[in-house]
Order: sequence, then C-alpha cells, then structure tokens
Amino acid sequence: MVTLRVNGEEKSFDGDPSMPLLWYLRDELGLTGTKFGCGAALCGACTVHINGQATRACITVISDVNGRSVTTIEGLDPAGNHPVQKAWRAFNVPQCGYCQSGQIMQAAALLATSKNPSEAEILSVMSGNICRCGCYQRIVAAVKSAATGA
Ligand code: FES
Ligand code: FES
Repeated sequence: MVTLRVNGEEKSFDGDPSMPLLWYLRDELGLTGTKFGCGAALCGACTVHINGQATRACITVISDVNGRSVTTIEGLDPAGNHPVQKAWRAFNVPQCGYCQSGQIMQAAALLATSKNPSEAEILSVMSGNICRCGCYQRIVAAVKSAATGA
C-alpha cells in the first residue's frame, strides 16, 4: 500500500507499485493538468513537486512517493493566483499551452528556493522544459517578473 498526500489530501493506492506517478495523477485521480510528453524525462511536460522539488512524474514510480507530498498544477494555488501564474497571465506566456503546467511548476520550484534568480540561473533551471511553440523569451520574462513582483 502506498500512502501519499496529493495537493494536501491524503491518498492511498494498492495497485501496481511500479505505476508511473503521472498515470496515477491523471488516470486514478483525474488530475489532467499534468501532461504526458516524452515519457522519458526529456521534456518537462509532466513536472510536479514532490516535497517541494520539481520532479518528472513520467519516470517516478508511485512506490517512490510513499509517505511524500505531491503538488500538481491544480494544487499550486487553487485560485490560480500563485505569483508565477499571475506573471504568466501578465506576459501572455502560453501559445498552445501543452507545456505550460510543467513550465509553471518548474518556475515555482525555482522561486521557492531562489527568490531573485539571475537570468543565467533561470535559463539553466528551465532548460529541461521544452516548449515546441518557442515561448522561451516570455517564460524568462515572466519568471523574472514573478521573482521581483514587477
Ligand atoms: S513527459 Fe515527463 S519529461 Fe516528458
Ligand atoms: S506553449 Fe505550446 S508547447 Fe509550450
């Protein structure tokens, strides 16, 4: 039996312990904001927080999350007003939107530990999150804005 917290709620799972966390979130809990892209930790579309750390849910098996706390885009701020989400709206970051929950979760994890990151730090931390629409300039601008409140 795996027990975990998802967006602040206690959950338990007694199915296949090797199930990817991404499947559990999407198929068992209906939390479809977290996206499947590559399935191989190469694109960042599936990024969630595990105990506050940005983590690729596609390669994380459910048994590895036992006793831990998972936050998805749905739980980052239920009202959608996390500073990163506000900045994303202000800068009209998304195009198709597919990569965006992963981008936001990656950026939120960065700002939780680095209050005013340099552009180089932002580029480095966000480099594993691929955007096929090429929204990178707006992503960097929005992360800077979320950090400074500007
Ligand atoms: S789907 Fe997980 S990193 Fe691409
Ligand atoms: S907004 Fe389309 S993939 Fe990033």
